[in-house]
Amino acid sequence: MTETMTARLDAPEIQQEVDSLLARMNLDQKIGQMTQGERAFVSPEDVRDYHLGSVLSGGGSCPGDNLPADWVAMNDAYWAASMAEEDDRLPIPLLYGVDAIHGNTNVRGATVFPHNIGLGAARDPDLLERIAQVTAREILATGVEWTFAPTLAVARDVRWGRTYESYSEDPGIVGAYAARFVAGLQDAPDEADVVACAKHWVGDGGTFAGIDQGDANVSREELERTHIAPYRDAIAEGVLTVMASLSSWNGKKCHGHRVLLTDVLKGELGFRGFVVSDWDGTDQLDPDYATAVELAVNAGVDMFMVPDKWKEFIGHLKSHVQRGAVPMERIDDAVRRILAVKFAYGLFDRPRPAERPWSNDPGFGSREHRDVAREAVRKSLVLLKNEGGVLPLDRAARILVAGKNADDRGHQCGGFTVAWQGTTGNAQIEGGTSIWEGIREASPGAVLSVDGAEAGAGDFDAAIVVIGERPYAEGMGDIRSAGATAVAPGSQIVLETANLEPYGSTLELAELHPEDLATIRTIAAEGIPVVAVLVSGRPLVVNRELESAAAFVAAWLPGSEGAGVADVLFGDHDFQGKLAFSWPGSPGDTVFPRGFGLTLSG
Ligand code: GLC
Repeated sequence: MTETMTARLDAPEIQQEVDSLLARMNLDQKIGQMTQGERAFVSPEDVRDYHLGSVLSGGGSCPGDNLPADWVAMNDAYWAASMAEEDDRLPIPLLYGVDAIHGNTNVRGATVFPHNIGLGAARDPDLLERIAQVTAREILATGVEWTFAPTLAVARDVRWGRTYESYSEDPGIVGAYAARFVAGLQDAPDEADVVACAKHWVGDGGTFAGIDQGDANVSREELERTHIAPYRDAIAEGVLTVMASLSSWNGKKCHGHRVLLTDVLKGELGFRGFVVSDWDGTDQLDPDYATAVELAVNAGVDMFMVPDKWKEFIGHLKSHVQRGAVPMERIDDAVRRILAVKFAYGLFDRPRPAERPWSNDPGFGSREHRDVAREAVRKSLVLLKNEGGVLPLDRAARILVAGKNADDRGHQCGGFTVAWQGTTGNAQIEGGTSIWEGIREASPGAVLSVDGAEAGAGDFDAAIVVIGERPYAEGMGDIRSAGATAVAPGSQIVLETANLEPYGSTLELAELHPEDLATIRTIAAEGIPVVAVLVSGRPLVVNRELESAAAFVAAWLPGSEGAGVADVLFGDHDFQGKLAFSWPGSPGDTVFPRGFGLTLSG
């Protein structure tokens, strides 16, 4: 089916449809197709009156009671408005986009998969494709057609707040996985397919000091070898859209980089779909917004994610075309690409969202889908230490469970879950299991004592202490020294910018979260062997925690099916995960190399 998408974009019948429609469009209709607003700032009437090509939900922007039916009803109204034919309107169906990057995780009750960093450790490309297929069905169940995934970032500095969105520091793994994920999203039969988006073009994971939206100071060869290479795999798989990066390459913003966007991506790599900007990414090109718009369009951005100021965007672009600053050929190229994607995806042939086969599908958040996620959790776990064979644990043993992340489904899901910055507690991750709930299911006699205070009271055979990070997203997850340049979304990035509050200033867990080492030590002091389970979006410096624990498991951000952790701790399945990132020790040295991972037999 893969050649279907790539071939379809170029197929004569598609190009004829595109040419015929383009010839009938006026400038307002063309510019409307290039415009994407955020649902909180766009009504169906706006879609109708301004011919908008797309609407999105930012993280946590949800309709009604945030159930699939509410989403279907919302997009059905937008779609109907886009298809209105009164007043000589041209019916061009709208594309609705969401960040379904580890499941359709804005929506209540969704299956939440492990973030990419865990999937990279699982080393199971077939599983990636199955996850993508399930994700596509849970996107379609909400009447949505487009996800801003997969992320193709090759994170090279784990201080970056988006490390967890990267499969690996190894571009070969990223490319292999991205291709399978694109296939799972776009090539499923029975109309169970959605539009994928490879992001962020290009070099987002290679910025100096891992600063989010920062500057990748790398040679063209390094850019090609490490950051461009995975896009070749995704484009060969037929990815229909690419999102521009908010970062820079050697001091020049990607959103305004004509060489990268047009000459390399569309020319050398032959990308035939369309480029969408990132959230207000255009702003960063110049303090004067009108100038910024001109720069981004002429550089090669085709659709503009302009959540709240979409009307202003339309006004500037129209005046640029009318005074010749933006050639009509550039507008036609952008609209041609957008229409080709909509035709190739079959959007013109699909019924309205409310009447589509997968809308409100009962499989949403089902046990069948959650079993795929639980399998992914099992396969993603990496065993770093197992002194004295403390693992696997005996179900009948007296087990103490502790740690702030033991019974917190929100923390185990991480960012881009329910809300942009994620959530805390169990309530909002409906249908899932915390790591503690999975352990209790496997070993009913287990006792939960979050700070470990019960350690002296129970004559325990072993303890499981679940430690690590709380959720974060983007720059708010950076490990950055105070004052290092970072950005507030939408800020003007010309020189210095407002600093987003980083997660912390060190990768050392004992500094970031001293409560974790304290809990481990409280329990170990009672002579109880500790199995430490780290819930984090990246490798952290855990030398002291490693030393105090008998066993140590990297669980990454496992998602809603925390019970998958118990499946391995109690030996129902062996560890198979291998590090997709080298594990840092003291600054500059590696404690565990990429590829490391023990099994229960050593
Ligand atoms: C964010 C992210 C991007 C996401 C987009 C829409 O700022 O950079 O990955 O797809 O905005 O939420």
